[in-house]
Amino acid sequence: MAFWNRKKTDSQPGTGEGLDLSRLPRHVGIIMDGNGRWAKKRGLPRTAGHAAGAESFRTIAYYCKDLGIPYLTVYAFSTENWKRPMEEVSAIMNLLQNYLLEALEKMERDGFRVHFFGDLEGLPPKLRDLCLRTLEEGDALDGTRFQVNVCLNYGGRDEILRAAKAWAADVQAGRQTPEALTDELFSRYLDSRGVPDPDLIIRPSGELRLSNFLPWQSAYAEFYFTDVLWPDFGPAVLDQALIDYQRRQRRFGGV
Ligand code: IPE
Ligand code: IPE
Ligand code: MG
Repeated sequence: MAFWNRKKTDSQPGTGEGLDLSRLPRHVGIIMDGNGRWAKKRGLPRTAGHAAGAESFRTIAYYCKDLGIPYLTVYAFSTENWKRPMEEVSAIMNLLQNYLLEALEKMERDGFRVHFFGDLEGLPPKLRDLCLRTLEEGDALDGTRFQVNVCLNYGGRDEILRAAKAWAADVQAGRQTPEALTDELFSRYLDSRGVPDPDLIIRPSGELRLSNFLPWQSAYAEFYFTDVLWPDFGPAVLDQALIDYQRRQRRFGGV
């Protein structure tokens, strides 16, 4: 499909060349940023940027799965993104709905499941129901080796506060004690329970910040920043990020 003069250099297929497939990150996080600027550069409405960004997401998710990366977490809509104009928010919600319908159709055939990080209570009821259905149907599948976590109405501080409230409620009910709280136990109250911490977090679009993405889980993540805008982000750019990651020495506070 000819898609609004996409910049071919960045969306070239990845080859995995130069990658050590035995040392891939287990979990990659991506802040899918730059859709609006991509559209603006082309004189298109911001919503066209979000549509192009959704295509990048589809391509990258399948590429991660094919490489053998077991977990991919993408930042799709933050707790702060409600500040945007209503038309833009609705367009994003519509794209998400279409993606989930597609996922429901393809999950079993393609062997993946979808989880959600974020407060689903704050979503339009139709989208929330679709999330719950996608979650349930995906979890019922056997032997899937690839999980996509979609951060929707997600904010890291909100996630930590909801976890703290749930833990406090358990203390009040006598199911937990303050003395027993550990890093590992608290992690089980987060939306990311059961998912290993991200090894690599990628932010396209040139911004050098986390914007409330996985602050707890990223304590020892490696970061990769690139000026490429998300709609231009293809497998070849992911290869570069992975090669860069594999060159680094992670010390986790040791020597
Ligand atoms: C990221 O692209 C998508 C969302 C936040 C939903 P932006 O819409 O933030 O694009 P820029 O940063 O304005 O270019
Ligand atoms: C972060 O991007 C949120 C998502 C990509 C969903 P933003 O565009 O909202 O972040 P800021 O405003 O540049 O920090
Ligand atoms: Mg942005």
